[in-house]
Amino acid sequence: MKPEVKTPLPGPKAQELLARGEKVLSPSYVRPYPFVPARGQGVFLEDVDGNVFLDFMAGIAVNTTGYAHPKVLEAVKAQAERFAHVCFSDFTHEPTLSLAERLVAKVGGGYRVFFGNSGTEGIEAAIKLVRHHTGRPYLLAFTGAFHGRSLGALSLTASKSAYRKGFAPLLPGVVHVPFPNPFRPPLGASPEEVGEAVLTHLEHLFATVLPPEEVAAFFLEPIQGEGGYVLPPAGFLPKLKALLERHGILLVADEVQTGAGRTGRFLALEHEGVEADVYVLAKGLASGYPLSAVLFREELGSWHPGAHGTTFGGQAVAAAAAQATLDLLEGGLMENAKEVGAFLLAGLREMQKRFPFLGDVRGRGLMIGLDFGSPEEPRPDLRDQAQKRAFEKGLLTLAAGPSALRLAPPLVLSREEAALGLEILEEALKSL
Ligand SMILES: Cc1ncc(COP(=O)(O)O)c(C=O)c1O
Repeated sequence: MKPEVKTPLPGPKAQELLARGEKVLSPSYVRPYPFVPARGQGVFLEDVDGNVFLDFMAGIAVNTTGYAHPKVLEAVKAQAERFAHVCFSDFTHEPTLSLAERLVAKVGGGYRVFFGNSGTEGIEAAIKLVRHHTGRPYLLAFTGAFHGRSLGALSLTASKSAYRKGFAPLLPGVVHVPFPNPFRPPLGASPEEVGEAVLTHLEHLFATVLPPEEVAAFFLEPIQGEGGYVLPPAGFLPKLKALLERHGILLVADEVQTGAGRTGRFLALEHEGVEADVYVLAKGLASGYPLSAVLFREELGSWHPGAHGTTFGGQAVAAAAAQATLDLLEGGLMENAKEVGAFLLAGLREMQKRFPFLGDVRGRGLMIGLDFGSPEEPRPDLRDQAQKRAFEKGLLTLAAGPSALRLAPPLVLSREEAALGLEILEEALKSL
């Protein structure tokens, strides 16, 4: 397959569907550009008018194995023929139990698993778990973080005030700490010193307003996703973890976007040599089937039967899709994410030399952000135009943060397909 845009966008069928949507769908949905999918294969998506796009967004970093992977289809079909759902909160069943065992083995043992349907649900479960276990009221999170939109998860989310506007009061006891963004450092720090500045700020908070012995957990994304695909400075996370340990504060790693192989390792925290007390996985775990998994250290499992549950969480077809996804990740996709991601990043860094308005190019594996503008002057206008032009030329991307374009293709992306993406992006940037 090759990207091919044959009609003006949106095409006639897409226009019709978009117009129907305007009449019945919630106005809270965003539509960054008028793409209306009909079918997918591998890393390509065809729209309802027969235009073909190279997909560098994967349904917001979800479709790990691309579209219609035969192994995933086979697993889904086989489980759907047996049963789809018998409520895992009430009854043990094999597909989901085996998945739990496999996930625990992947983090080296000593954890237990709770299944939900979405990243938000996973975060919500983690909030309840750490509060219940520690009996401590406060939670910490970073500015720029995105942890979901239910009222609990939204209380941690701090990537855009628009997400919170109109919904207060949120959960009390959530305190935000500036994220050590090396490209746009907070606290007046230099990029080199920003990690230390944030740690000092946190110690200052503990000394003045926030008793650390009343803090249950710090929720963090190892790489900020919705906040702009931003990596913390090298060595920051191990220092933060040591500081939290000194105060008996749990670390919850929100690996909803970074996990399931996207960065070239199963968990992004593995790159940092840091272990979390709780991991939340979702998005890429089941190749597009709704599933989240909260893995928590065995000793945190002091909550009682009935303390938490959900009707659909751990649904059997989603679990079968996750098993097939794990087979493929272990069978070479993580390695592919690392290799093709490095190729893509190198190509983009070359591109940065030709387009000085690209202020920063960063990422790990197939989680890559291009930041438009300088640290002082973000250029969301250029980012939005680049996204639109890329779409018109057959490349699907998504925005993230104040001024970044995120590239999160399926992990089955080949080097040739990555090169094709670079070509389209180059054309899109030239046309700005
Ligand atoms: C890091 C992170 N956490 C949580 C969520 C919420 O997940 P969901 O949209 O599946 O509820 C997201 C979604 O983008 C995310 O990126």
